Amino acid sequence: MSATHFQLDAQGRLQHFLTIEGLTCRHLTEILDIAESLHGVAERRVKKLPTLHGKTVVNLFFEASTRTRTTFELAAKRLSADVLTLNIATSSAVKGESLLDTLRNIEAMQCDMFVVRHSQSGAAEFIARHVKPHIAVLNAGDGRHAHPTQAMLDVFTIRRHKPDFPSLRVAIVGDILHSRVARSLIHALSILGTGDIRVIAPRTLLPAQVENLGVRVFHHLPEGLRDVDVVVMLRLQRERMEGALLPSEQEFFQQYGLTEERLALAHPDAIVMHPGPINRGVEIDSRVADGPRSVILEQVTNGIAVRMAIMSITLGHHARPVGEEV
Ligand code: NCD
Repeated sequence: MSATHFQLDAQGRLQHFLTIEGLTCRHLTEILDIAESLHGVAERRVKKLPTLHGKTVVNLFFEASTRTRTTFELAAKRLSADVLTLNIATSSAVKGESLLDTLRNIEAMQCDMFVVRHSQSGAAEFIARHVKPHIAVLNAGDGRHAHPTQAMLDVFTIRRHKPDFPSLRVAIVGDILHSRVARSLIHALSILGTGDIRVIAPRTLLPAQVENLGVRVFHHLPEGLRDVDVVVMLRLQRERMEGALLPSEQEFFQQYGLTEERLALAHPDAIVMHPGPINRGVEIDSRVADGPRSVILEQVTNGIAVRMAIMSITLGHHARPVGEEV
């Protein structure tokens, strides 16, 4: 059974969250609606709900992360779970322990959820197939494959500004080839019925047959940006590049960097997004990153509510309505 079906139980409910592929508009809308109801928790005097009280969440990060790891941790804490983050750099994995042995040991500590980031595509699914049946596994990024919680926080952020997906024009710019963020976002936007999804990149940074994902391909940034409502910029993922795919960062910026002049070609109300970490002067100019159209830091904030929603759903609990004090 593929990951797309494996993450659903017999009733079609999410038991793991491994990939956007194979999910329905109903799955995505349920996550977005629950995230919306949880968004206000951060504004309350007590920023906590009892939803996951008594549950133990383990963050297993085999790859560097700032936003994803900390927002998963905060999401678990705001749902009253006990959460621990295993720092793999100082764990026994560096002493040669296999992934399965590490897993068995943490499982023996009676946890309920693993949040996994790994440089190998398929790692989260592998773990989900090997854990005890009551444990939920959430993919926090596996190689170039998928980053489904990032896609959900991206579409959540878009929906808060521009709720009508069918009429939207979205451009994703830069290193599409190595980007799990782009792949998952394209799937999520398609499922939600987005009318016009564009990818803008040099040929060397596009996956083969990317058109099959239902996107329009542009190699010329000014042409691709015309009239778009949303611009998603991506980092050059040098750690995943084999060989020289690019002449230089300066040349990349000249051709594909988002400047105020280029942003002026988009719709006047267009928003600018980036999953982070941003590289100023490489894919985005500081005036755009810090400018009025940027929602980059909103994405970070929204990541907490979206991850709270996904944690609640996969552990089979629906969050209490906001306003109900603990
Ligand atoms: C992305 C990732 O790790 O895939 N970042 C993130 O999760 N916020 C994108 C990147 O590393 O460029």
